[in-house]
Order: sequence, then structure tokens, then C-alpha cells
Amino acid sequence: MSLLDKFMTIYGRAPTASASVPGRVNLIGEHTDYNGGAVLPAAIERRVEVALSPNGSFTTSIQSTRFNGRIERPSGDQKRNDWTDYAMGALWKADKLGWLSGGVDLFIDSDVPDGAGVSSSAALITAILRAAAETAGVGADPVDVAKHARSVENEYIGMPCGIMDQMAVGLARPGSALALNTRDLSFEVIDIPSGWRFVVIHSGVRRELADGRYKARFEECQNAAEALGTDALCLLSSAQQEAVDTLTDTLRKRALHVTSEHLRTLQASSAMKASDLDTFARLMNESHRSYAEDFEASTPEIDALVTDALDSGARGARLTGGGFGGCIVVLLESHLEQDWTTAFLNRHPGTWQV
Ligand code: GLA
Repeated sequence: MSLLDKFMTIYGRAPTASASVPGRVNLIGEHTDYNGGAVLPAAIERRVEVALSPNGSFTTSIQSTRFNGRIERPSGDQKRNDWTDYAMGALWKADKLGWLSGGVDLFIDSDVPDGAGVSSSAALITAILRAAAETAGVGADPVDVAKHARSVENEYIGMPCGIMDQMAVGLARPGSALALNTRDLSFEVIDIPSGWRFVVIHSGVRRELADGRYKARFEECQNAAEALGTDALCLLSSAQQEAVDTLTDTLRKRALHVTSEHLRTLQASSAMKASDLDTFARLMNESHRSYAEDFEASTPEIDALVTDALDSGARGARLTGGGFGGCIVVLLESHLEQDWTTAFLNRHPGTWQV
């Protein structure tokens, strides 16, 4: 059944608009996006699709294929700490923008897992904003939609994320990567070379961005930036670089990660353009080491998976996303993809391919 048919079955009429948005995997560039640095995410095949319609009441109805039952919330409701907050936050923003007001009937069809670090929330918020803009007959620019989607996370949800996820799900296409400068939002789309395969594997360890550890890293970066006298920790002058050694041990390590990760990401974009797999893979592996040891955002389970991935023939492997669980992204030569993935998943019960 199509998305529109499913909406009709549930709500008994046609939606005013629909939208389909992919999840994303970050290939390299972790926690650089709120520090003025570079990121290199790519769209994944899994998508969030939404259909919606204003319903003329003051109650919003939400039904998703990922969760049981229909949930009703008063329109304009505040955050209450469950997954429907992302929908309510997007509708709050759509109302502020004058795109959609009052109660809404909303249907969500998604195969993007949540709590996996593949941006299910950015995809859901973006899809709702796009459908809301269409309902209002507004041709919304994708970069503006990404900024609006980020403000839902920052202001409604209270998650101090950067803009990587919203730009990635809004602008990236499967088969290519988005080399994004988060300082000025300029970007370049780079085709993933045909002999490369990025496989995304869920560790089985669920992560929650809202659980405070992401925020703690965000605040440490802010403190380091403030002590060094900058608002972009990724972009230090040579004098500021030297002053990194005067920071406390924790802040020094956080600064080391984001400054080196920014450079690795720029180099990785060049390596991808040059189809230089050796260099790209090496940068992924250095990125994981830095993310685990200097940023201290990995877990023993994830480290073990990364090590086994490399020992069993992957060229690059690293924890991807906000940290503390979720997925690893693995770079393979394309001819190894199927056998390698099957064997890896068999060796690690509880893991699964995203
Ligand atoms: C999450 C955030 C992003 C980014 C990554 C880490 O996905 O939403 O803004 O900071 O973590 O790179």
C-alpha cells in the first residue's frame, strides 16, 4: 500500500502533502559541526516518509509504523520526553513559520532506526517541515529547512546539536557524500568511488543523544573555545594551537580531537575525490582512535567491533554519529561486501546491518 493509501485508511481522507527524507551516516568529521569545522556525511537507503493534513481541531494525531497505536497531543503542546516530541517540535516550528497551525493528522512510515546515530530525528523533523511548507504552498529552500530543523532540536528538544544531520538528510543523495563546511554552509557533493562500499552496522548498544553525554562534550568544547578566545574550536590560529597545552587535561583532549578531526575530514574529502582508498581508510581509523581516546565518546563494545572489522579485512572502520553507542561505519572494497558482512554479523550476535 502506498503512503497516501495508508493515510487514507487511517484518517479517512487524503493528506494535503507528503515528504520522504533519508537517514544519514557520517563517514568522518565527528563533533566538528558545532565547532566551525568540516563534516562528510552520506545519505543511507532507509527513509522516513510522512503524510499530513491539518484537521481543523486543536488536537494532533500521530501514527507511526515504528510504534503501536495512535497518539493524540494538544496542538502547541510542550516537550514531554518521548519520540512524538520530534513531530510536535516540527509542527511548533511550522506554526511559527506560518506554514501550518492547529491540529494535524500525521502518518509516519519509517525504516530508519531511532537511537542508532543515523539521524532518524533530523529526517522526521525535515520531512514534516517539508510537508508543512508544501501544505502552505511555500517553496522552501533546503538550506533554510535544515536551519529550521536544527532550531527544533536546539530550542524545542533542548539538544545542542550542530547542523550536520539536518543538512545531510536534506541535501545528500545515496551514492554520494556531502562535504560540508559548517561555518558558512558551503558544500560539495562527492560521488563515492564505485569500488568502495560503506557498510553501516548497529552495535546493538542503543544511544540516546538526550542522555546528557553529548551535551557534556558540547559544553567541554565550548569551555575550551572560550579559554582559547575563539568561537570555532576547529579553526585555531597558531597561537591558539600552542595555548591548547595550557588547558586542563580534559579540555586539551577535546580540543585535540576536534582540531585534528577537522583536518582529517578535509583530507578525507580530497582522498574521496581522488579515489584514494588507502588514505581515506587510514583517516577513518585515525578518526576512531581520536574519537575514542581524546574525545572519549566510544564504548568497549564498539572498540571491539572496530578492531574485529579491521582484523577481518575491512580497510577502515569507526564509530559514527554522536557517540556512546549506535553504529560503526566500515569501508570495504566492493567485491568483499556480501561475504564480509555476513561473516561479521554471524560472529557478533546482537549486531545488525542498517
Ligand atoms: C549528532 C549531532 C550532530 C553532530 C554529531 C557528531 O549526530 O546531531 O550535530 O554533532 O552528533 O558528529
